[in-house]
Amino acid sequence: MKRLFEVPATSAFVLSFTSEDIYHGEAARTFLRSIDLSAAEPLVAQFEDLHEEIHMEILNRKHGVETSCRKYLNENPAAQVIHLGGGLDPLSIDLADCYPKARFFDVDMANMPIKEEVNQAVNGPDVAFLTANLADTSSLIEILGGAGWNSDAATLLVSEGISYYIPKAAYRNTLASLRTPGGHLVFEYSIPDRLLAGVPKAEVVNEFFRRFTALLSIPFPMQRYDDEEIRDLAAGLDGEILDTLTQYQLEYSRTGENVMRYDPRMGAIRVSLIQFHG
Ligand SMILES: C[S@@+](CC[C@H](N)C(=O)[O-])C[C@H]1O[C@@H](n2cnc3c(N)ncnc32)[C@H](O)[C@@H]1O
Repeated sequence: MKRLFEVPATSAFVLSFTSEDIYHGEAARTFLRSIDLSAAEPLVAQFEDLHEEIHMEILNRKHGVETSCRKYLNENPAAQVIHLGGGLDPLSIDLADCYPKARFFDVDMANMPIKEEVNQAVNGPDVAFLTANLADTSSLIEILGGAGWNSDAATLLVSEGISYYIPKAAYRNTLASLRTPGGHLVFEYSIPDRLLAGVPKAEVVNEFFRRFTALLSIPFPMQRYDDEEIRDLAAGLDGEILDTLTQYQLEYSRTGENVMRYDPRMGAIRVSLIQFHG
């Protein structure tokens, strides 16, 4: 019988929102099938009434993040890639499978040993799985350097599902220290509730963030970004925004229609692609 890897309930919960269809290569799909998600069932039950909406929004974001990464890697197939707060999501594994000349660093403060173990068990590609706190820049740089990251060579930074959990000033500092000339940043984030006032289904987004924040009990509000903050973030990194994908655009790009996000203002989660100058 195939071995299923057990993971903590909150990690299994986050993984339950993805789908094999998002990934292009066989390694990431096999990786997902190898993880036992049953520990997430009590949590999934708590979000049952919101599940369809949130699942769709997260699939759209994952599609947007993958697509933005591929856009960069198609042009720069031998670049370095740092996956920030990747958790157990197999995005780095999928990209490493598809871009064998690129060099991959997957950094999170939790779950990296088990991610490495599962990746080995499924004969996945070469990825450095590193345990580090993204808010502690000096030790992060040391750990990345020790794993072979070259801070002078072009690097794609991938930030999905992590902008919420690190105070903005600290995260700006982290991103500034990882920025490389010729590199890009794929930055996934949510706009604040106030920008969704009067927009259809805004209450679904508000309610999800309310319940999720309570579940995680982080000691500060979840960090959400408005357009001006994204522009400032890009400018502060000596970069520019090439594109920002909204839920309306992402649903259309992923499914070919706008059924659940039928108004361009709908949905909270966006994906920006930022190019660094120099
Ligand atoms: C919601 S999960 C997102 C996982 C994956 N990127 C995704 O989008 O499915 C958030 C991840 O951020 C990690 N994380 C949160 N704060 C962190 C920090 N200060 N340093 C490193 N990792 C952190 C958590 O361990 C967790 O794996």
